[in-house]
Amino acid sequence: MPDSTRKKIVLLGATGSIGSNTLRVLREHPDRLTLAGVSARSNYRALAEICTEFKVPHAVLTDPQAYQKAQAEKVFDGNTQLACGAEALSGLAGLPEADTVLIAVVGACGLQPTLAAIEAGKDIALANKEALVLGGAFVIERARAKGVRILPTDSEHNAIFQCLEGHSPAQVERIILTASGGPFRETPLTDFAKVRPADAVRHPNWSMGHKISVDSSTMANKGLELIEAHWLFGLPPEQLQVVIHPQSIAHSFVQFIDGSILAQMSPPSMTFPIQHCLLYPERAPSVEPTLNFQEAFQLEFSPPDPQRFPCLELAYQALRNGGGAPAVFNAANEIAVERFLKDELPYLAIPKLIDAALEQLATTAVPNIDALLALDSEARVLGREFKL
Ligand SMILES: NC(=O)c1ccc[n+]([C@@H]2O[C@H](COP(=O)([O-])OP(=O)(O)OC[C@H]3O[C@@H](n4cnc5c(N)ncnc54)[C@H](OP(=O)(O)O)[C@@H]3O)[C@@H](O)[C@H]2O)c1
Repeated sequence: MPDSTRKKIVLLGATGSIGSNTLRVLREHPDRLTLAGVSARSNYRALAEICTEFKVPHAVLTDPQAYQKAQAEKVFDGNTQLACGAEALSGLAGLPEADTVLIAVVGACGLQPTLAAIEAGKDIALANKEALVLGGAFVIERARAKGVRILPTDSEHNAIFQCLEGHSPAQVERIILTASGGPFRETPLTDFAKVRPADAVRHPNWSMGHKISVDSSTMANKGLELIEAHWLFGLPPEQLQVVIHPQSIAHSFVQFIDGSILAQMSPPSMTFPIQHCLLYPERAPSVEPTLNFQEAFQLEFSPPDPQRFPCLELAYQALRNGGGAPAVFNAANEIAVERFLKDELPYLAIPKLIDAALEQLATTAVPNIDALLALDSEARVLGREFKL
């Protein structure tokens, strides 16, 4: 198939969970999609294998030591040009020949490449929710100014995006994000003090990276998604709701002013939203089978318990506060999870750290990106120094 007929994809975070699901979509549709560039932080051997399999011309490792090892061991073949560092990552996001840039790195490091892809006028498939939580105002303003399309790849936002097509914002009453409730949906509250990292990363429905898995267990992930939805769909916190749906089959709802509610449904696999974004506006057969209504299955819904999931209310608080508060929520959560995964903090410290950071920093104004990044750093310092 000639390259001119295939969409050229840049995949940032190719070695992660979203990255590997994206590779499955690419393997399924070699006639429609090709990889123009890939990145990882330090996993250079896996990145080299991807480059060999997909004949990728451009690759970036952001970790300098990994880059040096990759060069010394000559793991990349001569067909791939390898670069190093955060600037190279932003350069890859603006690669002239790319059509769509899928941002699937984890954490706040997604913001700068997202902005770089916007400035370069690329279609963006956005899995990295932290970019919008941290810098939503700037990302959305620049995307509008440049006429760039942001295709939501997070399954809930992708579902909402699909349900909203053909409707005007004035017709929308509310958006309802579904949440699995994670591994501790029914755990007695008295056992929360004993939760260890290995328990928190074991998600019942989704196989994901460690950070997002812990976020799902605390529902900080749904908090990040509320903020993400606010920026993507322009709705205030009062029009954003969360419902627990343990089966993770209905990926979110849009309720219209006439009472009709639309949902998008598919099995809990990220290949569905990823493929939707990469082929948009076209559709093609899916990588894996969809729901089978010839077999009985149940869908359950219930409201989240605020006592069990305090991070959710903290996210609403940050969203209502506005300004720098969502950035503080995000940075504090990232550090809390990092310290929990290293066994430096107990599980129950995660909401406490976020609460303390919001208390101290939420009212800081962020007139520009530099102020935003300074606030992000300040919240991280506070998070690293936090003691129970
Ligand atoms: N996983 C899901 O199902 C899912 C669903 C919806 C949304 N998301 C969002 O998608 C993003 C990726 O999630 P994930 O679960 O795929 O994460 P993951 O499995 O941890 O993978 C993260 C990817 O980003 C790279 N990376 C990590 N830190 C980096 C840094 N500081 N600079 C540059 N690259 C870095 C990693 O490279 P190395 O391998 O070298 O470390 C890896 O390729 C997150 O924002 C998450 O919230 C994920």
